Amino acid sequence: MDLLRADPLAQLRQRTSVKWRAYPHDVLPLFVAEMDYSLAEPVKRAMIRVIENSDVGYIGEVTALAEPFAAFAAERWGWMIEPSNIRTTTDVSVAAVEALRQAIGIGDGVIIMPPVYPPFFEYVTEAGGRVVEVPLLESGPVDADDHASSADFWSIDLAGVEAALQAGARAVLLCNPHNPLGLLHSAADLEALASLAFRFDAVVVCDEIHGPLAYESRDFTPFLSVSEAARAVGITLTSASKGWNLAGAKCAMQIAQSDRTLAMLDALPDEVHMRTSQLGLHGSIAAFAEAVPWLDQAIEAIRQSAELLRELLAAQLPGVVFRRPQASYLAWLDFRALGWGDDPSVVALESAKVALMAGPEFGRQGAGFVRLNLACSPEVLTEAVGRLARVAGDRGAESASAPASASASASARVSQ
Ligand SMILES: Cc1ncc(COP(=O)(O)O)c(C=O)c1O
Repeated sequence: MDLLRADPLAQLRQRTSVKWRAYPHDVLPLFVAEMDYSLAEPVKRAMIRVIENSDVGYIGEVTALAEPFAAFAAERWGWMIEPSNIRTTTDVSVAAVEALRQAIGIGDGVIIMPPVYPPFFEYVTEAGGRVVEVPLLESGPVDADDHASSADFWSIDLAGVEAALQAGARAVLLCNPHNPLGLLHSAADLEALASLAFRFDAVVVCDEIHGPLAYESRDFTPFLSVSEAARAVGITLTSASKGWNLAGAKCAMQIAQSDRTLAMLDALPDEVHMRTSQLGLHGSIAAFAEAVPWLDQAIEAIRQSAELLRELLAAQLPGVVFRRPQASYLAWLDFRALGWGDDPSVVALESAKVALMAGPEFGRQGAGFVRLNLACSPEVLTEAVGRLARVAGDRGAESASAPASASASASARVSQ
């Protein structure tokens, strides 16, 4: 398989998306979830065709996307969907808010599982709900062997979910694969979650935007595929936007497989569907129908990037803990041993000129963590870790030569 190469930095800096415009050129941007690879050729061609035909009007029929997505889901994950059970909308964020609006009443509790993608907190309040945090359970041997992955360390707190449902929460907003951990929830956990939601008559809104980027597609379990109970309670959200790097193209899907959940999607105003972008629709059709080989190349490049990051950290920043992800291109890094405070992204940006996502934005569990984007070239990744390591070295040297009281407070921070 050919390996996908990230575009050269000079070319990337011509892009105008937030990744490339938020910071000056001396900063390496490894924060927001955009990839540095060029678009897949079939996706490019499909979108160019739309422009050449001046076909940028309002959205029409979407079976042309529903069919290849259903075929992709069947082939890749063994998940069978009727294309008529798929609706489209602008993006997964809108898909989440609108699904939640149908699932809950104003002020109802919605369970989320931090540390989690920061907008989840906002989706709930935007939909009129109240955030109920049931953090993921963290377990696993501290000195696990080298092959351990995120699934060896985190899992859904099913007892916590049950207690929150018992206390009145009406919905669960689930992230599978889980951002920022790259965790694939197990079929057993998903089945148990579905049974709980069924028992308490709650809805599970499952964000599977990173699903196509599972490193081993057999390890990814689509929520709606696990049981009748899951199909009774679940609405799944997905798109080509992470897998094929089309976030700005604005096309996402909502999928329901029971009368009750389909009725929820059908109760949405037509406008929710009409806001889908034609450009995004055609890019997404090409992604699922013609660009799966590109997706596999991207996954391979990302896996290699994750391995490189492990090697670089082991050699240069051994205090930083990184659990191997099972999906996607986000690395959740524990900087607590370095004593860079609750938000190490501040030091990373100011002193190392590396832009990372701040851990605390993912919930209280993110204090002392950062999220790093791996979908870049090996050169950029190597440079970024080198810069962080130099700052760690300088700060270590400073604290070693600082007066006793200052170094005592530094080590107090480290041990927290
Ligand atoms: C888990 C998750 N959900 C949703 C989104 C945003 O998706 P969209 O751009 O389609 O709104 C992201 C973006 O990174 C994400 O990681």
